[in-house]
Amino acid sequence: MKAKIVFRDNVGSGYECLVSTSPSLAVPLRFGPVESDQYGIVRFSIEGLTPNTRYYAGLHQNGLPTSAPQCSFRTLPAGKAYSFDFMLASCANTGSTNSIFPSIVAEDPLFFIHMGDIHYRDETSTDPEDHIDNYDLALNASNQQDLYRNMPVWYMWDDHDYGPNDSDRTSPNRDASCEAFRRRVPLKDLVKSGITDEVFYKFEIGRVVFIMSDLRAERDPNNETDDENKTMMGFDQREWFKEELTKHPGKVICWMSSVPWVASSGSDTWASFQTERNIIANAIADAGVQDRFFVIAGDMHAVAVNDGTHSDYSDAQAGGFPVYQVAPLDRGNSTKGGPYTSGPFDNNNNQVGKIEITDNGGDTITVKFTGYEFTSGALSELTTHQFEAQL
Ligand SMILES: [Fe+2]
Repeated sequence: MKAKIVFRDNVGSGYECLVSTSPSLAVPLRFGPVESDQYGIVRFSIEGLTPNTRYYAGLHQNGLPTSAPQCSFRTLPAGKAYSFDFMLASCANTGSTNSIFPSIVAEDPLFFIHMGDIHYRDETSTDPEDHIDNYDLALNASNQQDLYRNMPVWYMWDDHDYGPNDSDRTSPNRDASCEAFRRRVPLKDLVKSGITDEVFYKFEIGRVVFIMSDLRAERDPNNETDDENKTMMGFDQREWFKEELTKHPGKVICWMSSVPWVASSGSDTWASFQTERNIIANAIADAGVQDRFFVIAGDMHAVAVNDGTHSDYSDAQAGGFPVYQVAPLDRGNSTKGGPYTSGPFDNNNNQVGKIEITDNGGDTITVKFTGYEFTSGALSELTTHQFEAQL
């Protein structure tokens, strides 16, 4: 069992990573020594871990502990088909110290997906350092950093952490934002490698493929004429996405759209890109994956579910798929998009979702969504939805 661990410290050499099943790092596995990169990021490839086990990791330099805080994570279960759960949400005020973050850690999901608006700086600077500083406001915030240090986190930006409100490829910050994402977000497997390329990627856990779409860096302005020349994904990413739909037989596909998919109005949703939405929907129908496909989406500051009744925008009307909207970690409520079959639940500023994947190795995988609000120091259930993905 392997893992990749990233720390931030000073620019230097002689770094070692100590990995242990004990919080005190007793009897550790040792990896390194390695050098940091030019920005003080220290990366380790870890091997020899036991599946389905919680580990703790610390950064040492020249034999002594550094001030970089310890992190913790659980390794994946063994085998190719296994059950797991993860939590997901979007949207938190800049530097939020809300106690919803440690409450997520207490639920002990295998990992977390942050679907954008990790801060609300609305940064237009053309200097990558300014965007990196903005990430640090979130990464260094007490309570919030508990989440990032205690489980793997997969992240994609939306408008407020890419640039200003409803921003797109024409925003002056575009290239600086892409560079800052590459330098500060510890993902090694972006599809494109240029320093200012858009930042979409995928990853797989068990028999679920997660497609994380960058819907900002190549996005045309929302108010442009809606025709075949208008794109939210950018044409390169859209072609890659269409190919991915055909490349994973026998697996569930989870698509992360940072803005609502089901929408008949709303300038910053797919309603302003109906031509491209139809193209994507036709690609899903043509690939025949609609029975093993679901969408997770952020941006709207409320929990909502569409059970598939309204999510099919294909010419063939091949069939809809579930769409799960989640939700403000710590931001005032708003609703957009729809219609939904459950919600929107917009009465609470602190919300999060969980998805439980039950995979016993057969021809179906159960996907169960639960939306929560955080009140009186605890998570309470708002709604659930479950479906059997047909492999
Ligand atoms: Fe937001």
